[in-house]
Amino acid sequence: MSALLSVDQLQSGYEGVAILNGIDLHVDRGETVAVVGANGAGKTTLIRTLGGLLKPRAGSILFDAKEMAGSASDRVCEAGLAHVPEGRQLFATLSVEDNLRLGGHLNRSRARMVRNLTRVYDIFPRLGERRRQQAGSLSGGEQQMVAIGRALMAEPILMMLDEPSLGLSPIMVATLFDVIGQLNRDGISILLVEQNVAESLAVAARGYVLENGEVVLAGTSAALLGDDRVRRAYLGL
Ligand SMILES: Nc1ncnc2c1ncn2[C@@H]1O[C@H](COP(=O)(O)OP(=O)(O)OP(=O)(O)O)[C@@H](O)[C@H]1O
Ligand SMILES: [Mg+2]
Repeated sequence: MSALLSVDQLQSGYEGVAILNGIDLHVDRGETVAVVGANGAGKTTLIRTLGGLLKPRAGSILFDAKEMAGSASDRVCEAGLAHVPEGRQLFATLSVEDNLRLGGHLNRSRARMVRNLTRVYDIFPRLGERRRQQAGSLSGGEQQMVAIGRALMAEPILMMLDEPSLGLSPIMVATLFDVIGQLNRDGISILLVEQNVAESLAVAARGYVLENGEVVLAGTSAALLGDDRVRRAYLGL
């Protein structure tokens, strides 16, 4: 069976600066896969390139049997690859519901928009209670729920989350990882990018360790959690 997402020798960066130096990774249908790495390793550059916000210099991004390298973000999203960006990136002065609706702007019908809103409020009842409130007035954890809800509005096959746990309390982090597990059981494949190595490998089946724009280690979560280099560099053991 071919992978749902297959990234081959991906190179990307910013004007004149190479950041990703040939990344290979894959996500199978139904999997949760983690990409972990320290500050500046290139995790956000990777997610932004996969999401169509940065154009790769070379390499291939095969998603659901279609080549996505160089495609614009709307097209990537329409193909079923949704992006929950680092730092949430909500419109602070818009209501929760208007932020969610923006995630569904590619939906073809009003009925679909309503059905997807209902689904998001089923998953996050708190957002239903606060649908008319300005997004910027919510707690960090609630804002992360809005960012995930907005991605769900596009009916993704695969959801990429960039450091969703950043800045959240330990209880909120636990809730968030529970939600990610639930989304995966509901059939959404997950690519989770995190500095929070122990928690993200606990929810993922497999992981990749990114350093200086390269994959330096890959394996099952159990193997990575047991690896001496991972334990020393990322788990403080
Ligand atoms: N807009 C930009 N222009 C030039 N260089 C950038 C830009 N954004 C990021 N970089 C550089 O690219 C490298 C990788 O950054 P990136 O944001 O992808 O790392 P990250 O793994 O997501 O880090 P963090 O854990 O801090 O979010 C860093 O050296 C960073 O300084
Ligand atoms: Mg980042």
